[in-house]
Formats: sequence, C-alpha cells, structure tokens
Amino acid sequence: MKSNYINLNTHSGINGASGNNNGKMSLGKSIKMYLTIFIATTCIYMVLYQYHISREPFAAGESVKHQEKSSSYFASYLWSPISLLMANSSSNINTKSTTTSTTIAPTTTTTSAGTVGSVGQKLGGASSASIRMVSLAATIPTFISSSSELRSGSVGGHRKTATTKTSTTKTTTATTTTSATAGGLAITKLTTTTAKTSAKTSAAATPTASHSDNANKTRPTFVAASEPPPLYIITPTYRRPEQLAELTRLGYTLKHVVNLLWLVIEDANKTNPLVAHTLDRIGVPYEYMVAPMPEKYKQTKRAKPRGVSNRNKGLEYLRLHATEGVLYFADDDNTYDISIFEQMRYVSKVAMWPVGLVTKTGVSSPIIQEGKLVGFYDGWIGGRKYPVDMAGFAVSVKFLKERPKAQMPFKPGYEEDGFLRSLAPLANTEIELLADECRDVLTWHTQTKKNAPAQALNRTRYKNTNLEYIDKLLVRP
Ligand code: UGA
Ligand code: MN
Repeated sequence: MKSNYINLNTHSGINGASGNNNGKMSLGKSIKMYLTIFIATTCIYMVLYQYHISREPFAAGESVKHQEKSSSYFASYLWSPISLLMANSSSNINTKSTTTSTTIAPTTTTTSAGTVGSVGQKLGGASSASIRMVSLAATIPTFISSSSELRSGSVGGHRKTATTKTSTTKTTTATTTTSATAGGLAITKLTTTTAKTSAKTSAAATPTASHSDNANKTRPTFVAASEPPPLYIITPTYRRPEQLAELTRLGYTLKHVVNLLWLVIEDANKTNPLVAHTLDRIGVPYEYMVAPMPEKYKQTKRAKPRGVSNRNKGLEYLRLHATEGVLYFADDDNTYDISIFEQMRYVSKVAMWPVGLVTKTGVSSPIIQEGKLVGFYDGWIGGRKYPVDMAGFAVSVKFLKERPKAQMPFKPGYEEDGFLRSLAPLANTEIELLADECRDVLTWHTQTKKNAPAQALNRTRYKNTNLEYIDKLLVRP
C-alpha cells in the first residue's frame, strides 16, 4: 500500500509535468488528480491511525518484544490490521509453547526410551544446526544424572530422548509458518537458553566439556580403555556394636572405585551372617574370611596387636590368588578420599602419603625436601625406621610376591614398621610419594566412640512388632 501511494504520486507528477508542457490541464484530468491525492491522503491517515491503535493494547514488555519485527510485519499489517493482531496473538502463543517445551524438557528426559526411537529415526539428519544444539544441551544433564544407566547400556535411550525435544521444537516452527519471523525469534531464544545450560553443565563436570565442544554430535564418544591395575583392599574387622556401621561407611566409599577386590577379614573363629548380608547389600566385590587373633595376645592385659592376624591372612590370600596390582590396608574405622585409590593403583614398589590424625600431632607424614623423602613426622617415633600410620602406605602385589617372607609382626605399635622392614631391600628413593608429593591429606585415622552393647530386647513387650526383626540385626559382643 505504501508503494502504491508512491506510485500514484509519481504518476500524478508525470501528469503534472505533461500538463505544464501542454500549457493547460483539462478539468477531467485535474478532478482525477485531486481525487487521487484525496484517496492517497486518506489511506495514509488510516494507516497511521490503525498503527497507533494496534500498538496501544500491548503491555510494555510485549512492545519491546515486537519492536524486533521486520518490514514484512509492517507490510502484513497494512494489508490487514486484523490479521496482524491475529498474527501477534498466534506468535505469543507460539512463544509461550516454545517456552513450555523448554520448561518441560527435564520431564521429557525421564520418559522411557521405547516409544521415542521412531521419532528420532523419522527426523533423521534434517535438524538445523541450532536445533541440534538444543538436543545436545538436553542430553548433557541426562549423562550426568544417570551415569549408572549409561554404564548399563541405555545410551541410545538418552539420545532418542534428546531427539524428541528436537521434534518439539520442529513442531513449533511448523505452526508459526504464518508469522515466520516471530517463530524464528522464539527458536533463537530457546537455543540461547539451552546453550547457557550446556555451558553451566560443562563447567560443573569437566568430562562432559567435550560434548558441548562438539556441538553437532549427539552420540557420546567411545574411548577404548583397558582395565586399570587391580586394587586389593585388606580390611580387618571384629565383632562390636559399631561393626556394621563402619563396614557400611567404608563399603560405600569403595563402591566408587573400579577393579577393586575388598578382602574383609574378621578377627573371629567363624563368619557372621550379618556381616555377609551387609557386604552383599553394599555390592562391592569382596571376599569375607576369618583370622582370629592368637589366644596369647587376646589374654594379655597390655596393648593388643589389633588386626594383625587379619592382615596376614590377606597377604596370604594375595600370594595365592593375585599376580598384579596393589594392596592397601584399610582399617574399617578410617576415612578415605577415593582419589588416593586411583593414585596408588600404579605404584611399582611402595608408596607413602600423609595421614590426618585426630590428635595433637594432627598428621603423620613423610617429610619431603626438594622432592626427596628425608624423614618422618609423627607424634610417636619409638625407634621405628618407618614411623608411619597403617592408612599411609600401599605396596605392589608383584613387589610383595618377590619377598616371600614379608608379613606383619604381632607387635603392638610396630605393625607398620615391622611389615615395611620385612619388604627389604627397599631404598627410601624407591618409595613413591603420593597425594601431591605428600602435600595433601587424603586419608584420616579416625576413631568411632566405643559403645556398650545394646540392651536385650523385652520380647514380651515387643512381641509381634518390627523390633523383633531389628533386634536380630544388632551386633552384640
Ligand atoms: C591402628 C592399627 O590398626 C594398629 O594396627 C596400629 O598398631 C595402630 O593403629 C597404631 O599404629 O598405633 P587403632 O586404630 O587404634 O590402631 O585400632 P583399631 O581401629 O581398633 O583396630 C585396627 C583394625 O583392626 C581395625 O580394622 C579393627 O577392626 C581391627 N581389629 C581391632 C581387630 O581385628 N581385632 C581387634 O581386636 C581389634
Ligand atoms: Mn582404628
């Protein structure tokens, strides 16, 4: 209409010019010219008035949104202000529906993989770059939240789920064909939002960073990896009220570590079904054995060699069954940062590192100067060659097997020292220094308060209640 007006004007200008050339204008021609100018002016007023009216009902926020509309928006308005209003409302609906699809994204993620597959196949490679980015971003949180599912092989499900979201976006685009610009705007916004999400996610978990780098990939990258060297964790344990709690806590720490065999060895004459049940429930690969403390040590009123027969039983097991990897003595009551397990895995002979103590000394640690082991820091040295804590060293299985006589002495306070000495020859320079060259604390010698055994249950009073079941789960000495 605007261009029509210009044409009319130009046309009349030409007429005017030709009229001047002729010297005078006929009455019919001048009436025609005035009519044309009148109609054109009326049109302009109508256009301006209706444009003014059409802007008034929108809220401030809406006006801002629609400022981005292009010239085609203006042109369509000139042709039909009503259709423009409809287009406005339809684009609003579309914007909302797109927003909704963003909001419901996590819900969609939880849908089962089964039905979604065909949708993904239908769409194929037709998605635009921005849409792919949306699907990728949607995939990332799924990978993080359910890594166990990922391991169990349902990767395809996640990928398919992501594609469903792509189809949602696609549908939105289809419904906005009448007002393509508005729809396009909405999609751009959606892409921006999800891109931000992906950036946040990759910051939170570095392993996923590669996913967001390869924005056009929806499949997780397969990296072939051989098993890391095995870890053998020797844990002495004994019957007491805290036993199951300690084992549960340690067990779930070990559950974070791959290729690990947990050797749980109880200072007892026979295994306890409650312990076996606890170990089963935790689900870490384990061997449950017994190794009672010799009677002569049990009877003594002096300090007892705690956990020694258990650890020696573990060493015996390794000599018979293990060929490679690393062994570590993890008392059932201590505290472990799982990164120490990954560090000790690759030890070739012996490794040491600091152990946090809950004593005045604060820590038991090798002393390192200019990268070299120059001594040991501990609250009590006691003439030991290796004044270290049980939680502060690991030994390679091969190295142990090269020393057939190596074992732990029944000598309270000298268990670690005695065992490490029995590994001779071992030069201090051969001792690997873990935990950031002994500048970090990743294990702690903690102690649980000793508790008196639970009192016997009043069976008459609590007959036929759950307490009868629970009572059977309590460990009493
Ligand atoms: C720890 C070590 O385990 C001792 O071997 C070491 O001599 C001592 O530090 C030290 O370096 O001074 P602590 O933490 O006091 O001793 O002892 P506990 O935690 O009570 O026992 C150590 C391990 O042996 C635990 O895993 C525990 O379950 C087990 N244990 C304890 C037994 O198997 N039998 C017992 O009678 C007592
Ligand atoms: Mn302890």
